[in-house]
Amino acid sequence: LMPKEAVRIVEVGPRDGLQNEPTPVSVATRIALIEDLVAAGIRHIECGSFVSPKWVPQMANTTEVCQQLKRQPNTIYSTLTPNMKGLEQAIEAKVNEIAVFGAASETFSQKNINCSIAESLQRFDPVAKQAKQQGLRVRGYVSCVVGCPYEGNISPAQVAPVVQQLLDLGCDEISLGDTIGIGTPAKIKPLLDLVIPITGTGKLAVHFHNTYGQALVNIYQALNQGIRIVDSAIAGLGGCPYAKGASGNVATEDVTYLVESLGFATGLQLPKLIDISQRLCHQLGRANRSNVAQAMSVT
Ligand code: HMG
Ligand code: MG
Repeated sequence: LMPKEAVRIVEVGPRDGLQNEPTPVSVATRIALIEDLVAAGIRHIECGSFVSPKWVPQMANTTEVCQQLKRQPNTIYSTLTPNMKGLEQAIEAKVNEIAVFGAASETFSQKNINCSIAESLQRFDPVAKQAKQQGLRVRGYVSCVVGCPYEGNISPAQVAPVVQQLLDLGCDEISLGDTIGIGTPAKIKPLLDLVIPITGTGKLAVHFHNTYGQALVNIYQALNQGIRIVDSAIAGLGGCPYAKGASGNVATEDVTYLVESLGFATGLQLPKLIDISQRLCHQLGRANRSNVAQAMSVT
Protein backbone atom coordinates (compact mmCIF):
# COMPACT_ATOMS: atom_id res chain seq x y z
CA LEU A 1 0.00 0.00 0.00
CA MET A 2 1.37 3.42 -0.95
CA PRO A 3 1.58 5.85 1.99
CA LYS A 4 -0.78 8.75 1.55
CA GLU A 5 0.61 12.06 0.39
CA ALA A 6 0.32 14.73 3.08
CA VAL A 7 -1.37 18.10 2.95
CA ARG A 8 -0.25 20.45 5.72
CA ILE A 9 -3.08 22.54 7.09
CA VAL A 10 -1.85 25.77 8.68
CA GLU A 11 -4.35 26.81 11.35
CA VAL A 12 -4.72 30.59 11.39
CA GLY A 13 -7.88 30.80 13.55
CA PRO A 14 -6.21 32.00 16.76
CA ARG A 15 -4.70 34.89 14.74
CA ASP A 16 -6.65 35.67 11.55
CA GLY A 17 -9.82 34.35 13.17
CA LEU A 18 -9.70 36.23 16.43
CA GLN A 19 -8.09 39.47 15.17
CA ASN A 20 -11.46 40.48 13.77
CA GLU A 21 -13.79 39.37 16.55
CA PRO A 22 -15.83 42.22 18.04
CA THR A 23 -15.76 40.65 21.52
CA PRO A 24 -12.36 40.47 23.18
CA VAL A 25 -11.20 36.93 23.82
CA SER A 26 -9.31 36.19 27.03
CA VAL A 27 -5.75 34.92 27.14
CA ALA A 28 -7.03 31.69 28.75
CA THR A 29 -9.50 31.09 25.91
CA ARG A 30 -6.85 31.79 23.28
CA ILE A 31 -4.45 29.35 24.95
CA ALA A 32 -7.11 26.64 25.29
CA LEU A 33 -8.03 27.05 21.63
CA ILE A 34 -4.43 26.60 20.48
CA GLU A 35 -3.79 23.63 22.77
CA ASP A 36 -7.05 21.94 21.68
CA LEU A 37 -6.27 22.44 17.99
CA VAL A 38 -2.81 20.92 18.47
CA ALA A 39 -4.41 18.00 20.34
CA ALA A 40 -6.66 17.50 17.29
CA GLY A 41 -3.55 17.08 15.13
CA ILE A 42 -2.65 20.60 13.99
CA ARG A 43 1.15 20.85 13.59
CA HIS A 44 1.45 24.43 12.29
CA ILE A 45 -0.51 27.18 14.02
CA GLU A 46 -0.59 30.97 14.25
CA CYS A 47 -0.88 32.02 17.88
CA GLY A 48 -1.29 35.78 17.46
CA SER A 49 0.40 38.93 16.21
CA PHE A 50 3.04 41.30 17.54
CA VAL A 51 1.49 44.41 16.02
CA SER A 52 0.37 47.70 17.48
CA PRO A 53 -2.39 47.09 20.05
CA LYS A 54 -3.83 50.45 18.96
CA TRP A 55 -4.30 49.04 15.46
CA VAL A 56 -5.42 45.53 16.40
CA PRO A 57 -6.45 45.41 20.07
CA GLN A 58 -7.62 41.79 19.78
CA MET A 59 -4.00 40.64 19.41
CA ALA A 60 -2.71 42.39 22.54
CA ASN A 61 -1.30 39.94 25.10
CA THR A 62 0.12 37.62 22.45
CA THR A 63 3.25 37.41 24.62
CA GLU A 64 1.24 35.94 27.50
CA VAL A 65 -0.53 33.54 25.12
CA CYS A 66 2.77 32.22 23.76
CA GLN A 67 4.56 32.06 27.09
CA GLN A 68 1.81 30.21 28.96
CA LEU A 69 1.04 27.76 26.19
CA LYS A 70 1.95 24.09 26.73
CA ARG A 71 4.06 23.24 23.68
CA GLN A 72 4.08 20.00 21.76
CA PRO A 73 7.15 18.82 19.85
CA ASN A 74 7.18 18.85 16.04
CA THR A 75 4.76 21.74 16.00
CA ILE A 76 5.30 25.13 14.43
CA TYR A 77 4.04 27.97 16.64
CA SER A 78 3.95 31.16 14.60
CA THR A 79 3.16 34.85 15.07
CA LEU A 80 2.95 37.86 12.75
CA THR A 81 5.79 40.35 13.09
CA PRO A 82 5.66 43.46 10.87
CA ASN A 83 8.90 45.02 12.14
CA MET A 84 11.89 44.66 14.49
CA LYS A 85 9.81 45.58 17.52
CA GLY A 86 7.51 42.68 16.71
CA LEU A 87 10.43 40.32 16.17
CA GLU A 88 11.93 41.17 19.56
CA GLN A 89 8.65 40.25 21.21
CA ALA A 90 8.41 37.04 19.19
CA ILE A 91 11.90 35.98 20.26
CA GLU A 92 11.05 36.69 23.88
CA ALA A 93 7.83 34.69 23.50
CA LYS A 94 9.88 31.76 22.10
CA VAL A 95 7.88 31.09 18.97
CA ASN A 96 9.60 28.92 16.36
CA GLU A 97 8.30 30.79 13.32
CA ILE A 98 7.57 34.41 12.50
CA ALA A 99 5.61 35.78 9.58
CA VAL A 100 6.17 39.02 7.73
CA PHE A 101 3.18 40.24 5.76
CA GLY A 102 3.31 42.25 2.58
CA ALA A 103 0.84 42.91 -0.18
CA ALA A 104 0.55 43.05 -3.95
CA SER A 105 -1.51 46.25 -3.67
CA GLU A 106 0.05 49.62 -2.74
CA THR A 107 -3.13 50.97 -1.14
CA PHE A 108 -3.68 47.86 0.97
CA SER A 109 -0.05 47.98 2.12
CA GLN A 110 -0.57 51.59 3.26
CA LYS A 111 -3.85 50.84 5.06
CA ASN A 112 -2.63 47.62 6.67
CA ILE A 113 0.95 48.38 7.71
CA ASN A 114 1.24 52.11 7.04
CA CYS A 115 3.99 51.96 4.39
CA SER A 116 4.52 51.27 0.70
CA ILE A 117 5.33 47.81 -0.69
CA ALA A 118 8.97 48.80 -1.22
CA GLU A 119 9.25 50.22 2.32
CA SER A 120 7.67 47.08 3.76
CA LEU A 121 10.26 44.86 2.08
CA GLN A 122 13.03 47.08 3.46
CA ARG A 123 11.55 46.69 6.95
CA PHE A 124 11.21 42.92 6.55
CA ASP A 125 14.84 42.49 5.53
CA PRO A 126 16.43 42.83 9.01
CA VAL A 127 13.44 41.03 10.56
CA ALA A 128 13.98 37.98 8.34
CA LYS A 129 17.78 38.05 8.73
CA GLN A 130 17.67 38.30 12.51
CA ALA A 131 14.96 35.63 12.73
CA LYS A 132 17.07 33.22 10.67
CA GLN A 133 20.08 33.93 12.90
CA GLN A 134 17.92 32.97 15.88
CA GLY A 135 17.02 29.71 14.15
CA LEU A 136 13.42 30.71 13.48
CA ARG A 137 11.45 29.73 10.45
CA VAL A 138 10.23 32.68 8.37
CA ARG A 139 6.91 32.82 6.54
CA GLY A 140 6.10 35.56 4.03
CA TYR A 141 2.54 36.57 3.25
CA VAL A 142 1.39 38.35 0.15
CA SER A 143 -2.09 39.86 0.56
CA CYS A 144 -4.47 40.88 -2.21
CA VAL A 145 -3.13 38.33 -4.70
CA VAL A 146 -6.35 38.42 -6.74
CA GLY A 147 -7.94 41.68 -5.76
CA CYS A 148 -7.75 44.61 -3.37
CA PRO A 149 -10.60 46.20 -1.42
CA TYR A 150 -9.34 49.64 -2.51
CA GLU A 151 -7.80 49.06 -5.96
CA GLY A 152 -9.94 46.30 -7.47
CA ASN A 153 -8.32 43.62 -9.63
CA ILE A 154 -4.68 42.70 -9.05
CA SER A 155 -2.81 40.82 -11.79
CA PRO A 156 -0.44 37.87 -11.29
CA ALA A 157 2.31 40.13 -12.70
CA GLN A 158 1.89 42.38 -9.63
CA VAL A 159 2.17 39.39 -7.27
CA ALA A 160 5.24 37.67 -8.73
CA PRO A 161 7.85 40.37 -7.89
CA VAL A 162 6.67 40.55 -4.27
CA VAL A 163 6.95 36.76 -3.99
CA GLN A 164 10.45 36.88 -5.49
CA GLN A 165 11.58 39.60 -3.09
CA LEU A 166 10.20 37.75 -0.05
CA LEU A 167 12.14 34.66 -1.15
CA ASP A 168 15.26 36.80 -1.58
CA LEU A 169 14.82 37.97 2.05
CA GLY A 170 15.10 34.33 3.12
CA CYS A 171 11.46 33.32 3.59
CA ASP A 172 11.11 29.57 4.00
CA GLU A 173 7.51 29.61 2.85
CA ILE A 174 5.26 32.03 0.98
CA SER A 175 1.52 32.22 1.57
CA LEU A 176 -0.68 33.75 -1.12
CA GLY A 177 -3.64 35.57 0.41
CA ASP A 178 -6.92 36.15 -1.39
CA THR A 179 -7.74 38.65 1.33
CA ILE A 180 -11.24 39.52 0.10
CA GLY A 181 -12.08 36.10 -1.31
CA ILE A 182 -13.03 37.24 -4.79
CA GLY A 183 -10.91 34.67 -6.65
CA THR A 184 -12.23 31.75 -8.67
CA PRO A 185 -10.17 29.01 -10.37
CA ALA A 186 -10.15 31.21 -13.49
CA LYS A 187 -7.94 33.64 -11.52
CA ILE A 188 -6.11 31.16 -9.30
CA LYS A 189 -4.80 28.99 -12.15
CA PRO A 190 -2.86 31.71 -14.02
CA LEU A 191 -1.63 33.11 -10.68
CA LEU A 192 -0.17 29.75 -9.62
CA ASP A 193 1.14 29.11 -13.15
CA LEU A 194 3.25 32.24 -12.71
CA VAL A 195 4.25 31.86 -9.03
CA ILE A 196 5.02 28.11 -8.81
CA PRO A 197 8.05 28.36 -11.16
CA ILE A 198 9.44 31.03 -8.77
CA THR A 199 8.92 29.20 -5.46
CA GLY A 200 8.37 25.55 -6.35
CA THR A 201 5.33 23.85 -4.83
CA GLY A 202 7.11 22.80 -1.61
CA LYS A 203 7.36 26.38 -0.30
CA LEU A 204 4.02 27.73 -1.44
CA ALA A 205 0.82 27.95 0.61
CA VAL A 206 -2.62 29.25 -0.29
CA HIS A 207 -4.63 31.42 2.11
CA PHE A 208 -8.17 31.84 0.90
CA HIS A 209 -10.94 33.83 2.52
CA ASN A 210 -14.40 32.54 1.75
CA THR A 211 -16.20 35.85 1.20
CA TYR A 212 -17.70 34.75 -2.13
CA GLY A 213 -17.92 31.06 -1.22
CA GLN A 214 -15.11 30.15 -3.63
CA ALA A 215 -12.37 29.08 -1.22
CA LEU A 216 -12.82 25.30 -1.46
CA VAL A 217 -13.00 25.25 -5.23
CA ASN A 218 -9.88 27.43 -5.30
CA ILE A 219 -8.12 25.00 -2.95
CA TYR A 220 -9.11 22.14 -5.24
CA GLN A 221 -7.59 24.07 -8.13
CA ALA A 222 -4.39 24.68 -6.13
CA LEU A 223 -4.13 20.99 -5.14
CA ASN A 224 -4.41 20.07 -8.82
CA GLN A 225 -1.46 22.37 -9.51
CA GLY A 226 0.62 20.64 -6.82
CA ILE A 227 0.09 22.89 -3.78
CA ARG A 228 0.23 20.90 -0.51
CA ILE A 229 0.06 23.67 2.15
CA VAL A 230 -3.32 25.22 2.91
CA ASP A 231 -4.16 27.94 5.47
CA SER A 232 -7.54 27.76 7.18
CA ALA A 233 -9.34 28.81 10.36
CA ILE A 234 -11.45 26.72 12.68
CA ALA A 235 -15.19 27.46 12.21
CA GLY A 236 -14.35 29.71 9.27
CA LEU A 237 -13.51 32.55 11.63
CA GLY A 238 -11.62 35.53 10.40
CA GLY A 239 -11.42 38.58 8.30
CA CYS A 240 -9.07 41.48 8.07
CA PRO A 241 -9.70 44.74 9.92
CA TYR A 242 -8.26 46.59 6.92
CA ALA A 243 -10.39 44.83 4.30
CA LYS A 244 -14.04 45.80 4.81
CA GLY A 245 -16.49 43.04 3.99
CA ALA A 246 -13.80 40.37 4.05
CA SER A 247 -15.48 37.45 5.74
CA GLY A 248 -13.82 34.49 7.34
CA ASN A 249 -11.04 32.21 6.23
CA VAL A 250 -12.06 28.90 4.73
CA ALA A 251 -12.98 26.56 7.60
CA THR A 252 -10.39 24.02 8.76
CA GLU A 253 -13.13 21.38 9.08
CA ASP A 254 -14.23 21.91 5.46
CA VAL A 255 -10.67 21.75 4.12
CA THR A 256 -10.00 18.58 6.15
CA TYR A 257 -13.15 16.92 4.79
CA LEU A 258 -12.20 17.82 1.21
CA VAL A 259 -8.53 16.87 1.22
CA GLU A 260 -9.02 13.63 3.20
CA SER A 261 -11.71 12.54 0.73
CA LEU A 262 -9.25 13.21 -2.11
CA GLY A 263 -6.87 10.70 -0.49
CA PHE A 264 -4.43 13.04 1.24
CA ALA A 265 -3.38 12.65 4.87
CA THR A 266 -3.85 15.69 7.15
CA GLY A 267 -3.16 14.06 10.52
CA LEU A 268 -6.29 15.80 11.79
CA GLN A 269 -9.17 14.28 13.72
CA LEU A 270 -12.29 15.81 12.24
CA PRO A 271 -14.67 15.00 15.13
CA LYS A 272 -12.28 16.74 17.54
CA LEU A 273 -12.09 19.78 15.25
CA ILE A 274 -15.87 19.98 15.18
CA ASP A 275 -16.11 19.83 18.96
CA ILE A 276 -13.60 22.67 19.25
CA SER A 277 -15.39 24.65 16.59
CA GLN A 278 -18.86 24.30 18.11
CA ARG A 279 -17.61 25.15 21.59
CA LEU A 280 -15.77 28.24 20.35
CA CYS A 281 -18.76 29.53 18.36
CA HIS A 282 -20.96 29.05 21.41
CA GLN A 283 -18.45 30.97 23.53
CA LEU A 284 -18.20 33.80 20.98
CA GLY A 285 -21.95 33.86 20.47
CA ARG A 286 -21.67 33.60 16.72
CA ALA A 287 -22.80 31.25 13.95
CA ASN A 288 -20.49 28.49 12.79
CA ARG A 289 -19.31 29.24 9.25
CA SER A 290 -18.15 25.66 8.61
CA ASN A 291 -20.66 23.67 6.55
CA VAL A 292 -19.05 20.41 7.63
CA ALA A 293 -19.27 21.33 11.33
CA GLN A 294 -22.94 22.23 10.91
CA ALA A 295 -23.74 19.06 8.96
CA MET A 296 -21.93 16.77 11.39
CA SER A 297 -23.47 18.43 14.46
CA VAL A 298 -27.09 17.76 13.47
CA THR A 299 -28.58 15.39 16.05
P1 HMG B 1 3.14 52.66 12.48
O1 HMG B 1 2.22 53.57 13.20
O2 HMG B 1 3.60 53.05 11.11
O3 HMG B 1 4.42 52.27 13.36
O4 HMG B 1 2.45 51.23 12.40
P2 HMG B 1 5.45 53.12 14.14
O5 HMG B 1 6.73 52.36 14.07
O6 HMG B 1 5.42 54.54 13.68
O7 HMG B 1 4.90 53.05 15.65
C1 HMG B 1 3.69 53.66 16.07
C2 HMG B 1 3.27 53.09 17.40
O8 HMG B 1 3.04 51.67 17.27
C3 HMG B 1 4.32 53.23 18.49
O9 HMG B 1 3.59 53.32 19.73
C4 HMG B 1 5.03 51.91 18.45
O10 HMG B 1 5.64 51.58 19.65
C5 HMG B 1 3.90 50.96 18.16
P3 HMG B 1 3.29 54.74 20.43
O11 HMG B 1 4.64 55.37 20.58
O12 HMG B 1 2.39 55.49 19.47
O13 HMG B 1 2.62 54.35 21.71
N1 HMG B 1 4.37 49.73 17.50
C6 HMG B 1 4.19 48.49 17.97
N2 HMG B 1 3.58 48.04 19.07
C7 HMG B 1 3.59 46.70 19.26
N3 HMG B 1 4.15 45.83 18.41
C8 HMG B 1 4.76 46.25 17.31
C9 HMG B 1 4.81 47.64 17.05
N4 HMG B 1 5.32 48.38 16.06
C10 HMG B 1 5.06 49.65 16.34
N5 HMG B 1 5.31 45.38 16.45
C11 HMG B 1 2.42 48.85 12.26
C12 HMG B 1 3.05 50.15 11.74
C13 HMG B 1 2.78 47.75 11.30
C14 HMG B 1 2.97 48.55 13.64
C15 HMG B 1 0.89 49.05 12.33
O14 HMG B 1 0.46 49.49 11.07
C16 HMG B 1 0.12 47.82 12.69
O15 HMG B 1 0.23 47.32 13.80
N6 HMG B 1 -0.73 47.31 11.79
C17 HMG B 1 -1.57 46.16 12.02
C18 HMG B 1 -1.41 45.21 10.88
C19 HMG B 1 -2.23 43.94 11.12
O16 HMG B 1 -2.08 43.28 12.13
N7 HMG B 1 -3.10 43.60 10.14
C20 HMG B 1 -3.84 42.39 10.17
C21 HMG B 1 -2.98 41.21 9.85
S1 HMG B 1 -2.58 41.04 8.11
C22 HMG B 1 -3.85 40.06 7.49
O17 HMG B 1 -4.81 39.79 8.18
C23 HMG B 1 -3.70 39.48 6.10
C24 HMG B 1 -3.29 37.98 6.12
O18 HMG B 1 -4.21 37.21 6.86
C25 HMG B 1 -3.19 37.45 4.68
C26 HMG B 1 -4.46 37.75 3.86
O19 HMG B 1 -5.55 37.34 4.26
O20 HMG B 1 -4.29 38.42 2.82
C27 HMG B 1 -1.91 37.81 6.77
MG1 MG C 1 -6.08 36.44 6.12
